[in-house]
Amino acid sequence: MARTIEIRPLAKDDDRSRFSCGQPDLDRFFEHYAGQNQFTLRLAVTYVAVIEGGIVGFATVAASSIERAHVPSPRLRKRLPAYPLPVLRLARLGVDTRARGLGIGKALLRYTLALAVEQRDRTGGVGVVTDAKVGAVSFYRGLGFVPLEGVREGLLHGEPTPLFLPIDTIASASQR
Ligand SMILES: CC(C)(COP(=O)(O)OP(=O)(O)OC[C@H]1O[C@@H](n2cnc3c(N)ncnc32)[C@H](O)[C@@H]1OP(=O)(O)O)[C@@H](O)C(=O)NCCC(=O)NCCS
Repeated sequence: MARTIEIRPLAKDDDRSRFSCGQPDLDRFFEHYAGQNQFTLRLAVTYVAVIEGGIVGFATVAASSIERAHVPSPRLRKRLPAYPLPVLRLARLGVDTRARGLGIGKALLRYTLALAVEQRDRTGGVGVVTDAKVGAVSFYRGLGFVPLEGVREGLLHGEPTPLFLPIDTIASASQR
């Protein structure tokens, strides 16, 4: 039987102590900082994926911006002004190791893309950016993300890869 995945904002009383996506920095962030960033500092909002009452994944998003020079499409670059462009940053994404391969990462990403379309309509936005860990680059590439222009050259081996998904790609995919 297919299990229903609910995606909703993190609540203050959610138990985050048993979550583990296998990346200690992400687990530490989720357990100790996601709440503070959302409820006290107001820097970001974390959305959790829940199956049968248990948290199986999370995605943290925040408002951000990119420079025009980093937009990967020359055609789009030409149309945009030379000041910081609003984007939605997918700051962190993790799925519990016990719930991998069930489509939870994809569902959280789809939810994030819907938020980006909402941001576009309410306050403006040209896409979604994320810094992909080495093992997750092909996950994002498979979902349409492309490297930000001119950023990768400065990266050291093993550093996260900055990726971008243009809002037009998101909007046309969601209409299909
Ligand atoms: C990357 C991660 C979020 C994927 O979550 P998941 O729930 O297992 O992924 P899904 O089941 O939704 O998979 C969606 C698709 O991506 C593919 N995929 C999953 N993980 C992948 C990876 N690491 N590399 C390439 N493809 C991957 C799946 O095969 C699936 O393909 P399909 O749609 O053709 O069947 C999860 O493995 C994770 O939390 N990893 C550790 C933390 C991490 O790296 N986070 C990203 C930080 S930038």
